[in-house]
Amino acid sequence: MDSSSRFVARHVASLPKSGIRDFFAIVSKMKDAVSLGIGEPDFVTPYHIREAAIASLEKGRTSYTDNRGTQQFREEVSRYVAKNYGPEYDPETEILATIGVSEALDILLRAVLNPGDKVLYHEPCYVSYAPSVALCHAEAIPVRTVSADQFALDPAALRAAWQPGCKLLVINFPTNPTGGTADRAKLEAIAKFAIEKDLLVASDEIYSELTFEGDHVSIASLPGMRERTIFLHGFSKAFAMTGFRIGYACGPAAVIDGMLKVHQYGIMCAPIMSQEAAVEALRNGRDSMLHMRYKYRERRDFIVRRFNELGLPCHLPRGAFYAFPDITSTGMDSMTFAQQLLEQQKVAMVPGTAFGAAGAGFCRASFSTSYEKIHEAGERIARFLDTIRKG
Ligand SMILES: Cc1ncc(COP(=O)(O)O)c(C=O)c1O
Repeated sequence: MDSSSRFVARHVASLPKSGIRDFFAIVSKMKDAVSLGIGEPDFVTPYHIREAAIASLEKGRTSYTDNRGTQQFREEVSRYVAKNYGPEYDPETEILATIGVSEALDILLRAVLNPGDKVLYHEPCYVSYAPSVALCHAEAIPVRTVSADQFALDPAALRAAWQPGCKLLVINFPTNPTGGTADRAKLEAIAKFAIEKDLLVASDEIYSELTFEGDHVSIASLPGMRERTIFLHGFSKAFAMTGFRIGYACGPAAVIDGMLKVHQYGIMCAPIMSQEAAVEALRNGRDSMLHMRYKYRERRDFIVRRFNELGLPCHLPRGAFYAFPDITSTGMDSMTFAQQLLEQQKVAMVPGTAFGAAGAGFCRASFSTSYEKIHEAGERIARFLDTIRKG
């Protein structure tokens, strides 16, 4: 650490670095490694979507756009969300184009949180939630979810975790890293609780198209919820567009307006060619999305069966592209398991604790990689388990 560390703000210095990136950095330097580490589609963005970005550049469309996003983007998002999720949002005042769900969540938190406010969220969860809350000088309050419940958020646990000062609830179904989902009945109970406690709800639905069991329901579509929900979505996962850095937020005008202020001063606008590519994804991307979903589902069935055969109990993820096996039978903690597996067999999985304390005893295996690689990883994990069980 060089002496410039004295300039770094205390609340930033105390933040941990993302555990996922550490593993990724090691794996990228390792020859013959099989990575089940990164939550990024192995598919290249479908060609018709790339073509829309190419056409945008060819036409010389290289300018800033309206801070909220192009009219065309917002209108297309409005249609897509109404058709697939239910609520109708006004493109003029209730939709904002962002740099992925990452920016959407960040500007939401900065727009609504006062220092000391409390934010409920379910854990294990996406690595950025708690740090993003901490960056707003607010307090993140985790609600534990458990494998016996397929990592669905239990409304009773939510109630038990609530404290005075809670202002926002962040939910993410299907969930990274567990693949947990919430059915309508669970969501209704969560919605009832949010109304009773006057909570704003941030619903990160980035994996919603990648739901394998049952239908995805958005909490924003439930009675009384549209006016207290910010619907966050993007193109990175279902349309394999991580590098385009494009997403959006939909919600009641006053909150979107607050977010717009933060966005205006920090970002200005999402890139125009990404917005235009996203319009193509929304209009014509369904078939390619369904093809990718079919492939993820095949891989999911294989990897989950393999973990269970190997004596690492693994529930069936109902959505997203992550398996979350229980590794406690090895006698190792999550970090040791992941480190040893990487050292001995060059297979990268992410320790469950990277997703919060509730991930202890589990590791995350992303199946957004080819079937061949997943198969090879299965062979190597079998050898690894043989060595440690014999030893
Ligand atoms: C639950 C969840 N939300 C948000 C993101 C970030 O998405 P984006 O690429 O749209 O910023 C991720 C990425 O892994 C994620 O898993």
